[in-house]
Amino acid sequence: MIALADADATRALGARLAASVRGGDAIALVGDLGAGKTTFVAGFAAALGAEARSPTFSLVNEYAARVLIWHVDLYRLERASELPELGLDELAGDPRGVLLVEWADRFDVLPSDHLQLVLAHTGDTRTLTATGTGPRGRELAAHLEPGA
Ligand SMILES: Nc1ncnc2c1ncn2[C@@H]1O[C@H](COP(=O)(O)OP(=O)(O)OP(=O)(O)O)[C@@H](O)[C@H]1O
Ligand SMILES: [Mg+2]
Repeated sequence: MIALADADATRALGARLAASVRGGDAIALVGDLGAGKTTFVAGFAAALGAEARSPTFSLVNEYAARVLIWHVDLYRLERASELPELGLDELAGDPRGVLLVEWADRFDVLPSDHLQLVLAHTGDTRTLTATGTGPRGRELAAHLEPGA
């Protein structure tokens, strides 16, 4: 578990992950409303040269950066039957870019090997727990460890 004292710490950890990703990587962002998922993506995207927006209306935003970034927010998606039109199947594992999905616990959209980031509120601050669900996910989780 990694302590994130303020929003800058969340952004900085996103930037740290950006330094280790490559095309085809997939990242799940899980946590309550306001836990810091979009803040993490903003730090990640900024480190790669892009500005993240909240994917409110589109559900999927694409940013052209050093790699493509596909930023997905499943909060407003109501039914799994609406998933095909988002085209996530094609994006998952696409070597041209990295897929980051907020509310990834709501629907099963990520490849089995991904990095899962769980953000939690602890009073005014946040904590983050990184778990790899396969070899590549574990590699990325290890890169986030303090001192790695
Ligand atoms: N480590 C932190 N400590 C305190 N505040 C933080 C931290 N990280 C982010 N925040 C703040 O929490 C608020 C919510 O952040 P953010 O929008 O990233 O959450 P979210 O998980 O994407 O929420 P939603 O579920 O609504 O999409 C923002 O004001 C942000 O600056
Ligand atoms: Mg958000």
